[in-house]
Amino acid sequence: MNQNSDREGAAISVRDLHRRFGRQQVLDGVNLDFPRGQITTIVGPSGCGKTVLLKHLNLLLRPDSGVIVIDGVEVTALRSRAQNEVREKFGMLFQAGALFDSMSVFDNVAFPLVELTNLNRDEIAARVEETLEAVGLQGMEKKFPSEMSGGMQKRAALARALIRRPKILMLDEPTTGLDPTRTHQIHSLVRHTQQQFDLTAVMVSHDVPAVFEFSDRVAFMHQGRMALNGTVAEVMAAKHDNFTQFLEGRASGIDEPLAAAAR
Ligand SMILES: Nc1ncnc2c1ncn2[C@@H]1O[C@H](COP(=O)(O)OP(=O)(O)O)[C@@H](O)[C@H]1O
Ligand SMILES: [Mg+2]
Repeated sequence: MNQNSDREGAAISVRDLHRRFGRQQVLDGVNLDFPRGQITTIVGPSGCGKTVLLKHLNLLLRPDSGVIVIDGVEVTALRSRAQNEVREKFGMLFQAGALFDSMSVFDNVAFPLVELTNLNRDEIAARVEETLEAVGLQGMEKKFPSEMSGGMQKRAALARALIRRPKILMLDEPTTGLDPTRTHQIHSLVRHTQQQFDLTAVMVSHDVPAVFEFSDRVAFMHQGRMALNGTVAEVMAAKHDNFTQFLEGRASGIDEPLAAAAR
């Protein structure tokens, strides 16, 4: 794939990705494009493989077969060292990607710059200030995670994910544990920062349909593949039984395995 034509198109392309754990075929032919400068949200029942897919996208896991192309480079073919360089394009906010409890907000957010760059103290301080402001945490530098609400902790984690100015932001259920109001605020903030920093965003979310308001595209994962994939309008207009059942299950507040058992 040539880099120029790719600049117009997808930041990430996934082709026929397969991955099994033991006898469980978790990814069974995933095909998906993530257009540049958009938020693509991946939804699907709990345990369907969303996190496993994200871990392939950010090169923490290798597929059994299939290809991932990022910025025109077939990253699945790279050796580990070259993969590390690709990983620097990403900012990641993981479900369990908690802050370091023993560090202030400033130190948490500065951490990737201290560890991975040669920026001096003043440059780091300026970047941290700018990023905390972007997520609405200006003035909170000296706080510790335990002194902050869940919503503020997520903001700090987002600031840390953005601190190296990645081109691609990956978020795995960034609103876990938040009430609907704070969930809405975090979604809105993800959209705001995505525009401010001109990011391609890959988001896994269980907040359906609320998250669709802040998504450009939606992919519905079912049985190891993308059963639906399109703009929010296209996906909402699609008549797809599994997707409808999934939406109804989420709306009723019953988790998917229970909903399936109740049927
Ligand atoms: N490292 C692993 N070893 C074995 N099984 C795994 C591993 N990671 C994930 N799985 C299994 O893959 C399936 C999908 O998991 P996951 O991607 O975390 O689901 P979710 O869609 O909820 O994020 C689950 O059945 C999980 O148990
Ligand atoms: Mg998950």
